[in-house]
Amino acid sequence: MNRILIIGGYGHVGQKIARRLVAAGQRVTIAGRSASKATDVAARLGCEGTALDLARPESWGAALDAADAVICCLDTSDAALARAVVERGARYLDISATDAVLRRIEGLDPVARQNGALAVLSVGLAPGLTNLLVREARARCPGAQRFRIGVLLGLGDTHGPAAIGWTLNALAPLSRGDIRPMRFGEDRHGQPTIPFDFSDQHSLMRRGYPAVETRLALGSPLVTPLTLRWLAAVASRPRLRRILARVLPFFRFGSDRTALVVEAFTDAGNAPVCRLTLDGRAEAEITALVAAEAALRLSETGETGVRHLDELLTLDDLRAVLCRHGLRLSEG
Ligand SMILES: NC(=O)c1ccc[n+]([C@@H]2O[C@H](COP(=O)([O-])OP(=O)(O)OC[C@H]3O[C@@H](n4cnc5c(N)ncnc54)[C@H](OP(=O)(O)O)[C@@H]3O)[C@@H](O)[C@H]2O)c1
Repeated sequence: MNRILIIGGYGHVGQKIARRLVAAGQRVTIAGRSASKATDVAARLGCEGTALDLARPESWGAALDAADAVICCLDTSDAALARAVVERGARYLDISATDAVLRRIEGLDPVARQNGALAVLSVGLAPGLTNLLVREARARCPGAQRFRIGVLLGLGDTHGPAAIGWTLNALAPLSRGDIRPMRFGEDRHGQPTIPFDFSDQHSLMRRGYPAVETRLALGSPLVTPLTLRWLAAVASRPRLRRILARVLPFFRFGSDRTALVVEAFTDAGNAPVCRLTLDGRAEAEITALVAAEAALRLSETGETGVRHLDELLTLDDLRAVLCRHGLRLSEG
């Protein structure tokens, strides 16, 4: 049977992926820098645990050699891990959202093909499900000239330190005009959204989609255009950003609602010709669900090279599992 190595595997999302894969009967190893955390969490999840430090390639060998697939659940600064995996002919799945790194991994396409390996990028919620929703919106509306993605993350939800750090780093200072309302699900009123540098928009446009823009909303009664601008201003100062990153995990004010909306437009007007929405709870659970499903579904594929999730799966492929998880998909 195949062995799946999850790097960052005892982190917030990594653990949830591991639990799902173990439940599906897979042999799983979770890895991070602490051997004791890895083995403790692994014992609880019914899998194996090992120490591996992404910053020390000399620590990768044994764990990579034993894996048929590697799921990367942390931000990397380059494509070295992905290269080491595909050179071994194994599958690589990446849940991270930094476009500059994903672009470098895309450059490994010839190496992956030569080695009969597949690397899958944009695995998760955003990027991930957002890519699949845009693919679906384009299929339903081939004349669309631009797409707008909205990602709503509830401030009552739990996120891991790496995800919180990444989000704060990506918050750019905002002007009043940057903040625009978007409606999620069946909401009657829009929530304030800001332009946000998730990788989905960039990777889709590189592959021939017309203009794509991704916007972020933070679901909480405390979030208004004013508090959003304040948050972005605070996050732009490194010292204050570090303090925020430490405080935010204890700050829950709102629900754990997680929602996506993709709107397709045929002209410069503001009325979308197609609007697809997905509404659920608990962002990390949804990310883990998509990552585990992708790992299982793509284990037997004959595809090789470096691909984004939307090049390998459609929304329909995941529809049943998303619905079982309580996610509501709708159009209109
Ligand atoms: N695509 C999506 O929709 C989506 C959604 C959520 C999160 N994410 C991304 O997923 C990643 C993980 O998020 P999370 O919430 O699970 O964060 P987390 O709870 O902080 O988990 C990160 C894990 O990585 C490990 N780690 C850190 N540095 C390492 C290194 N040098 N070598 C090996 N392991 C290392 C950490 O353990 P140690 O510190 O003990 O090593 C920890 O277990 C983030 O990059 C986030 O942006 C993507």
